[in-house]
Amino acid sequence: MPNPADAQADLIAYLDFHTEAGVDMALDEHPHDRFAEADAPEPAARPRKAPARPALAPPHTPSVAPFPPPSPAARATFGRSAAAEPEEAAGDARARARKAASLEELEAILAGFDSCPLRFTAKNLVFGDGNPQAKVMFLGEAPGADEDRIGKPFMGRSGQLLDKMMAAIGLDRKETYIANVVPWRPPGNRNPTPQEVAMCKPFVERQIELVGPELIVCLGAPATQTLTGTKDGILKTRGRFFSYALPGGEAKLLATLHPAFLLRQPLQKRLAWRDFRSLRAVLDGKA
Ligand code: URA
Repeated sequence: MPNPADAQADLIAYLDFHTEAGVDMALDEHPHDRFAEADAPEPAARPRKAPARPALAPPHTPSVAPFPPPSPAARATFGRSAAAEPEEAAGDARARARKAASLEELEAILAGFDSCPLRFTAKNLVFGDGNPQAKVMFLGEAPGADEDRIGKPFMGRSGQLLDKMMAAIGLDRKETYIANVVPWRPPGNRNPTPQEVAMCKPFVERQIELVGPELIVCLGAPATQTLTGTKDGILKTRGRFFSYALPGGEAKLLATLHPAFLLRQPLQKRLAWRDFRSLRAVLDGKA
């Protein structure tokens, strides 16, 4: 009989192993042994011509209990608002976002906005980080696992690279403001759907208005496309300055590559370096 402390340590190690391997959410209430399923003998190939009268197979008994139907409480929480009418939800988001007179108010309003289904799978709302009066605002797509756990944007490997990219042009992350188009982590790091983006867009637009930066740096295509409306890919738009209308005047918007992309394609860092040098030049009033 293993001693309970060892058994607990084994269980924790087993969970850590799965987390490291990227398994960070449960998809079912019951475990499935996929290895056993894969080892099971293949069902016999169907004969081209059925024998005169094939024997009826015994009724299939599922090996796991089926999902129970959603409870009334779950339906009340997820049902109508969570997925059903994205356009209505985007209109509601616009009306709510407009009411926020400060970033604190906006965060509180967003925390109470339950039309976006992502909020129900995320651990935390990842609102923003940094100096609310920043001259430069960075915008990513959506939080990942580290950001979801910590509740702040760009905390994981992409965030560490972003910090280094800023440092390379003499920018300290604390003097900037960082946010994402979508403030909740999409499950399994999938891309947010266009409906989810549309629901979150009014909030990020208001967030930008409340920060009032002179320069907005869009990291990657989703942020660039959401804020500028362009359909062009990031390799076409990167390095380009757009103009972004704000109540107090226009801000410059620079499109550049996302640090996660640079982690996968380190050779492209030279392009990001060019973009960051143009950013430095604008900040120094030299461009
Ligand atoms: N990628 C993003 O787009 N945002 C984050 O906050 C982290 C990774």
